[in-house]
Amino acid sequence: MDKIDTIITNMIKELDYEPLNEMFANINSGKKLRSKLLLKIATENENSLKLCAIIELIHAASLLHDDVIDESYTRRGKASINAIYGAKNAIMLGDILYSKGYFELSKFDNFISQNISNAVSLLSIGEIMDVSMGEEFNQSKQKYLKMIYYKTAVLIEATAKCGAYLGKFDIDDFAKYGKNLGIAFQIIDDILDVTQDSKTLGKPALNDYKEGKTTLPYIYLYEKLNDKDKKYLISLFKKDLKDEEQSWIKENLAKFNIIEKCLNVAKNYGNDAINSVKKYNIEDLENIVKSMIDRTF
Ligand code: FPP
Ligand code: MG
Repeated sequence: MDKIDTIITNMIKELDYEPLNEMFANINSGKKLRSKLLLKIATENENSLKLCAIIELIHAASLLHDDVIDESYTRRGKASINAIYGAKNAIMLGDILYSKGYFELSKFDNFISQNISNAVSLLSIGEIMDVSMGEEFNQSKQKYLKMIYYKTAVLIEATAKCGAYLGKFDIDDFAKYGKNLGIAFQIIDDILDVTQDSKTLGKPALNDYKEGKTTLPYIYLYEKLNDKDKKYLISLFKKDLKDEEQSWIKENLAKFNIIEKCLNVAKNYGNDAINSVKKYNIEDLENIVKSMIDRTF
């Protein structure tokens, strides 16, 4: 992963504008799930490492914009770029990372450049879906799953497809692996928001609902509540939650075993991912799914 960080730092340096290096240094490097995935499928070489760097640049750009959109001031345990430099700079830094990534991507085969760039269009559509779904409480699991497929899973799916292309494996098998892994990843993210504390998460806890995100735990909880409690849950939507309101949510999630239910949905997507590539006997592909499900942040 250090090699990828070096490639990224050099790509930024090539743009030859000193303030950029400083701003970029304030982005905490993340888990690099997409890079780990790509390198498990394709062999590690100059080409695959460069593609990892590009995908991480694009992912980082999307998070810069996402933190502006969500008005989030912490990311990965540190102040977000919009918190440090303001929203305008965060947007432009995102534009620079994305366009530099795309410039480097244009040097790759059409299959790769088209799959990754198309994924960026779809993930941006996913972000629009996420924002528009924030207007009111969403009861539809179908709508939620479609949104997280676009917002999160399409880039992971495209990464897996590019890995298969470079490693000369069947593209469809790996597309299924990436899509199901990506959906499971976002469901786990949404579970952690309600189960973990902010220190562990590196961002505020129980924050999704306040941001207008009716994630799977809330959709399942709503289904279980009586009419009076349904109304109460909806009344808390997009509100700064007081301690007792937070406790009410947590108690009811526990009462109806909602977390276990959501975890099972994520595990089913994880198993579908594993099954679609089982025949290749790449043990690490199973480990990626398992450690992603078992993670705590
Ligand atoms: C995080 O979701 C957001 C995403 C995975 C996608 C964001 C995409 C865009 C803003 C489109 C712009 C794209 C580019 C390349 C410039 P979240 O808010 O649920 O997660 P969080 O809790 O980590 O913020
Ligand atoms: Mg966000």
